[in-house]
Amino acid sequence: MHIDYITPNSWSIIEEGWNPDNVKSSESLMALGNGAMGQRANFEENYSGATFQGSYIGGVYYPDKTRVGWWKNGYPEYFAKVLNAPSWIGIKVTVNGESLDLHTCKEVKDFRRELDMKSGVLYRSFKATLQNDVEITVKSTRFLSMKMDEIGAINYEVTPINGDATISYEPYLDSGITNEDSNWDDKFWNTLEVSEDGDMAFITAHTMKTEFHVCTMMHNRFNIDGREVTLSRKRTNTTETYIGHVYETEISQGETFSIHKLGGYVSSLNHEQDNLVNAATTVFNEATTVGFDTLQQLQKESWAQTWEMSDITIDGDVKAQQGIRFNIFHLNQTYTGQDSRLNIGPKGFTGEKYGGSTYWDTEAYCIPFYMATKDQQVARQLLTYRYKQLDKAIENAEKLGFSGGAALYPMVTMNGEECHNEWEITFEEIHRNGSMVYAIYNYERYTGDTTYIPEMGLEVIIAVARFWRQRATFSKAKNAYVILGVTGPNEYENNVNNNWFTNYIAKWCMEFAFAKAELIRDTQKQDWSRISGKTHLSYDEMLSWKSTAEQMYFPYSEEHDVFLQQDGFLDKELITVADLPKSNRPINQKWSWDRILRSPYIKQADTLQGFYFFEDHFTQENLEKHFDFYEPFTLHESSLSPCVHAIQAAKLGRMNQAYEFYLRTSRLDLDDYNKEVEEGLHITSMAGTWQSVVEGFGGMRVKNDTLSFETKIPDAWEAYSFKVNFRGQILKVEVNKSETTFTLMSGEALDIIVNGNKETISA
Ligand code: BGC
Repeated sequence: MHIDYITPNSWSIIEEGWNPDNVKSSESLMALGNGAMGQRANFEENYSGATFQGSYIGGVYYPDKTRVGWWKNGYPEYFAKVLNAPSWIGIKVTVNGESLDLHTCKEVKDFRRELDMKSGVLYRSFKATLQNDVEITVKSTRFLSMKMDEIGAINYEVTPINGDATISYEPYLDSGITNEDSNWDDKFWNTLEVSEDGDMAFITAHTMKTEFHVCTMMHNRFNIDGREVTLSRKRTNTTETYIGHVYETEISQGETFSIHKLGGYVSSLNHEQDNLVNAATTVFNEATTVGFDTLQQLQKESWAQTWEMSDITIDGDVKAQQGIRFNIFHLNQTYTGQDSRLNIGPKGFTGEKYGGSTYWDTEAYCIPFYMATKDQQVARQLLTYRYKQLDKAIENAEKLGFSGGAALYPMVTMNGEECHNEWEITFEEIHRNGSMVYAIYNYERYTGDTTYIPEMGLEVIIAVARFWRQRATFSKAKNAYVILGVTGPNEYENNVNNNWFTNYIAKWCMEFAFAKAELIRDTQKQDWSRISGKTHLSYDEMLSWKSTAEQMYFPYSEEHDVFLQQDGFLDKELITVADLPKSNRPINQKWSWDRILRSPYIKQADTLQGFYFFEDHFTQENLEKHFDFYEPFTLHESSLSPCVHAIQAAKLGRMNQAYEFYLRTSRLDLDDYNKEVEEGLHITSMAGTWQSVVEGFGGMRVKNDTLSFETKIPDAWEAYSFKVNFRGQILKVEVNKSETTFTLMSGEALDIIVNGNKETISA
C-alpha cells in the first residue's frame, strides 16, 4: 500500500490535514466528471507546488504525431489524445495584496477535502496564514452538473479572521495550457478569440489538425455573508489566451466574501462552430435562471437516481463499502451512454495516460457493469461505437496485409484508426479483436436483444472471423492451425507462438461466426441478403472458418494437465511470485524488458482470462488446476488483473483469497497499490470491481436466458446488496451471513436459478 491518508467513510473520499505530497494523488482521486467533460481536482486558487493540471472534454482530441525510435511499417501516423482543455476553474485570490498560494503560506491548518459521492460534489476547506500574517478561512464547493452537462459550478468563500481585509478575486479562463504527454511539444490549441459580455467571459479556441472548436466560458456573481452584491469590476486582464475579471472589496473580520463561478464548455461537437459564444450565453441564461443552489439540488437528485440503480451496499466493512462506491461513482462520471461518439478511456477524465482513447477494456471489462445498471441501450451504444468503426478496422487490417474484408480492431483508438505504436502490441496483441465479438455475444446473452446481431453485429463478427482465418497458419509439423507471433493479455511475453487464450478466442470467434451466419441465413432472409451481399460472404468461406477452428492447435502439458500459456512456457525457470523478493516489484519498473520476457511472470489474467470468458466450456476441476498453476506466477501489475482472479477464487470457494483480490481491485487507487495514482485513476478496471461483487460473491451468471446466482459472503462483511436490470426488470439481491433475499423491484415475475434450483420471484 502506498497511500493511507484517505479517511474511511461509506459515502465520501476524505482527506484531512495539509500534506503537499498528497496533492497530485488527491487531484486524481477526487476528480470530477459528468460524462461529457471532466477534470482533476485542481485547486481554484494559484498553487505553485507540485500539481498536475487537467481538464478534459469527451470526444475532443488531437492527433499527436507518432514518435518512435525505430519506425516500423504499419505503425500509425499519430496517437489521438483527449487533450488537456482550457481551464475554467481558476480564481486568483489576493488578500491585502498578497496572493493566496498554499505552497507559500506561512501556515495551513484544518485542511480538509471531501468528495461527496452521494451527491457528486467536491468540498474543500482550510485556514491559512499568508506571508503578510493575514489569517483567512477558505471554503469551496464544486460540481460538474449531470443535468446540464456543459456546466460546472463553484462556490468559493474567504473569511478574514484576524482583522478586516481587502480581498480580490480574479476568476479567469486560460487556454494557454499544455499536455504533459505531448510527443513533439506541439501546440494543441489555437486561440481564436477572447471576449466578454457583462459578467460573462469567453475564450474560443480550436484544436490544431482536428479542428474541434470549443468555447470555454465563465460567469461570476458575488455574495457577502449570503447577500448577493453587485461589484463593479476593477479591471479585466487579458492576453491572447487568458481573460481574468478582477473584483475587489473590503471585508470586515468574520464576514464571508464568496464568488459563485459558473463555467464549462460548449463545442462544435454539439453546436454550430460559428455560434459558440451565443450557445454559451444561452447555457448561462438557463443556468443562472436555475441558480447555484437549485443546480446543486439537481445534482443531488441526479446522483440519487444513479445510485438508486447502481449502488452496492456492504455492511460491516467501511473500507470495502467506500471502495466499491468509489469505483461505481467514477464509472458513472466517465460514461453516461448519452453520446454514441464517446467511450471509456482507461483513465477516464482523470489523467492523460492512455490518451483518453478506447481499448479492449470496454468490451472485455466494462460492458457488464453498464448492461446491468443502466438501460440496455447504453451497452448497445458501446457496441454501436465499434460497428461504426468497422470500415476503419478493415482498413487497419489491409494496412497489415490482410484482405477480403478482414478487420483488425485497433489496440487503442479514438475514431477507429489505430493509434498504438509498439510493434509487439499494435501488430501482435490481437486477442483484442476477439473481445469485440465476445462483447456482442455477452450483450445478446444478457439482454436477450436478438436484433443487434442482424442489424449490426454480424458484419463485425464476419470481419473478425475473416481476420482469424487469415492470421492462422497451417503447420505441417503439427498438422494443425497455429497462430504465430502474438502478445497475449499478459504483456510480459511478446512475440510468442500459440498463446492459448488468443488461439482459443480465435477458434471461438470462427465457430460463433459460422453459427450466427447460418442462423441468420436460415431465419432472417432479408437481413441475410443485405449482409451477405454487402460482405460478399460465401458458404465456402463460412466452412473455411469452421474447419480452421476445428483444427486449431492448443499447447498443453500432460505433466501438469494444463493448457500452456504459450509454446515453450515450461522451459522457463518456474520460480513463483512468492519466492521473488518484493524489492524486485513492480518488475515493469525494476527490471529490463528482456529479463521480464525470459521470466515466467504474468502481468494479468491470460490463460485465466479464457477461463473467465468461456467458463462454461470447462469444469470446476479444470478451472482449479489452471488457477493453481498460473496464479502463483501472476503479479497483477495490470489493474485489470485482480478482478478476474477475485471472481474465479470466489467460484472455487476460496473466499479469503477472493476477498484479498477484491480489496486490491476495489481500493487499487484509493490505496495506490500500483504507485501511480498521481497520473490518474484506473477507470476501466473499476467495472471489474463491480463484477467481483456481482459475479464473484453474488455468483451471478446468465444461463439459458435466466439469471443464476450462487451467493457467498466474505467473512469481513455482515451483509451486502446490489441491483441488476435484467431485460427491463429490476432485481435486488441482498445477502447476509445466513440467507439471500431476492426482491423484484419492477416487472411482474422473474424466474431465476438459485444454487442450481429454479425459483420464481414475484413482484
Ligand atoms: C493492460 C491492457 C489494457 C491497458 C489499458 C495495460 O496495462 O495490459 O490489457 O488494455 O493497460 O487499460
